[in-house]
Amino acid sequence: MSDENVEPEGPDLTRGVALSTLSEGAMLLGRVGNEPAILVRHRGELFAIGSACTHYGGPLAEGLLVEDTVRCPWHHACFSLRTGEALRAPALNPVACWRVEQRDGSAFVGEKLTSPVRRPAAAPAMPGSVVIVGGGAAGNAAAEMLRREGYAGRLTLLSADESTPYDRPNLSKNYLAGTAPEEWIPLRSPEFYRQHDIDLKLGVRVGAIDTASRRVETVGGERHAYDALLLATGAEPVRLALPGGDLPHVHYLRTLADSRALAARARASKQAVVIGASFIGLEVAASLRARNVGVHVVGREPRPMEKILGAEVGDFVRKLHEQHGVIFHLGTTPTGIDARSVALASGENIPADLVVIGVGVRPAVALAERAGLAVDRGVTVDEYLQTSVPGIFAAGDIARWPDRLTGERIRVEHWVVAQRQGQTAARNILGRRERFDAVPFFWTEQYDFGLAYVGHAERFDMPEIDGRLDARECTIVFRRGGRKLAVAVVHRDLEGLKAEVELERAIAERAASPQAA
Ligand SMILES: Cc1cc2nc3c(=O)[nH]c(=O)nc-3n(C[C@H](O)[C@H](O)[C@H](O)COP(=O)(O)OP(=O)(O)OC[C@H]3O[C@@H](n4cnc5c(N)ncnc54)[C@H](O)[C@@H]3O)c2cc1C
Ligand code: FES
Repeated sequence: MSDENVEPEGPDLTRGVALSTLSEGAMLLGRVGNEPAILVRHRGELFAIGSACTHYGGPLAEGLLVEDTVRCPWHHACFSLRTGEALRAPALNPVACWRVEQRDGSAFVGEKLTSPVRRPAAAPAMPGSVVIVGGGAAGNAAAEMLRREGYAGRLTLLSADESTPYDRPNLSKNYLAGTAPEEWIPLRSPEFYRQHDIDLKLGVRVGAIDTASRRVETVGGERHAYDALLLATGAEPVRLALPGGDLPHVHYLRTLADSRALAARARASKQAVVIGASFIGLEVAASLRARNVGVHVVGREPRPMEKILGAEVGDFVRKLHEQHGVIFHLGTTPTGIDARSVALASGENIPADLVVIGVGVRPAVALAERAGLAVDRGVTVDEYLQTSVPGIFAAGDIARWPDRLTGERIRVEHWVVAQRQGQTAARNILGRRERFDAVPFFWTEQYDFGLAYVGHAERFDMPEIDGRLDARECTIVFRRGGRKLAVAVVHRDLEGLKAEVELERAIAERAASPQAA
């Protein structure tokens, strides 16, 4: 989403930069021709790569150097300084990478380097065919990674969705608010899948897996043989069995089609009731306010988002929404919906010509269950994301994996985690035996407020806040029994990246001495 017509800032890096002005660990923002670039000095070496993250254009010059990589301050993508490759999602494309020469005490950025082509994986590890079920974050990232890693066999991506894989997080944010055009939403063009020989089949639901003959069967009766299978079926919104819950003005939000339908309805609506006061509900509330629709939020909890972020953030978020005109009805539940209103257990009756229900999701595990895979509040996977059946992997919202930081099995519903799991599963399908050890990351945006969260704390003691939430500049630490489990940051992107590295080190230490877990 970067604006390519804007003249890049900073010096022309091809003309030379005096090394005396470039300290160790510095990232100098400049340009190479018309392309924005950063010149980096790291442990005696010089690197030059594109400065705009290929996810949403985040400023890499404000990110964090970790070994020979740079991490994006916005959603923690990671790029190689040596090749420009996008090593970690959510970025899927590389940034440009240039050769740098040292002459006469200066660094000169020279010609652009081409990305190295990976050789196909070694033959014994190479499955003849891979089938991926689910064309969301995890499934798409896995398909792309298989090809990036040089996998040359048959690759089929089966998705129940009618749309090519898309940017799901945007569906409750800018796209729903009407500030992101439809062109921004697909992750790739249909041409991309053809070029990479990924047989993407849309509107196709897999109904059964025959683990003995290694075949999946679609609801329409098509069969696809596999040597390796990845399940990435995601999650489905929890449906409320309410009188009036199936009226046409009652919406759920998971797919692009859902978001389109909701946006269309919002254009003709005056007053909405959003049922659910967690992330989806509140992001929807903010997007509807951007469309000038009046919004009431109904939630069972006493404070919005308290369970995940604590009471103080909950109070702040409530106030933020109230400043934008949202009216809360907390500690209560809906009892019925009719064409003009929503009735609450508290006795209130709120007028509404639009109702959005966002009360959580359930992992879509029915397919795995029917196939006899181990399922326990998610599909059980090992540290390599392999299920209880060899050759079948699971990733994303459905996967419950052993988390080394907490020593517990966890399942999370985060975009970046799903993509990174898809990428790890792809490499393990090719025989890499790569542990999934990434620190979970998610973000939320509501109006002009953004929060990023690293780690995972299902239960925590009183959160510690450094800085001021009301000034929108703070770090919130979540511990349990003294152990740091997660950190949230508001306008402190670099702190968020440093916290991620610290949690990664804690995981590595635990791996080195398992008795500490
Ligand atoms: C509106 C919205 C906003 C969000 N915002 C954020 C955010 O800001 N930050 C964040 O970290 N996370 C966010 N999330 C969560 C994030 O999008 C999910 O965690 C992520 O998409 C999970 O990826 P996945 O691949 O596991 O599942 P999904 O992306 O849901 O993909 C699952 C795919 O499987 C397909 N499928 C299901 N069953 C079958 C079957 N039997 N056969 C074939 N295909 C099947 C589905 O059609 C779908 O294409 C948001 C989610 C929503 C809905
Ligand atoms: S903009 Fe860089 S990760 Fe999102």
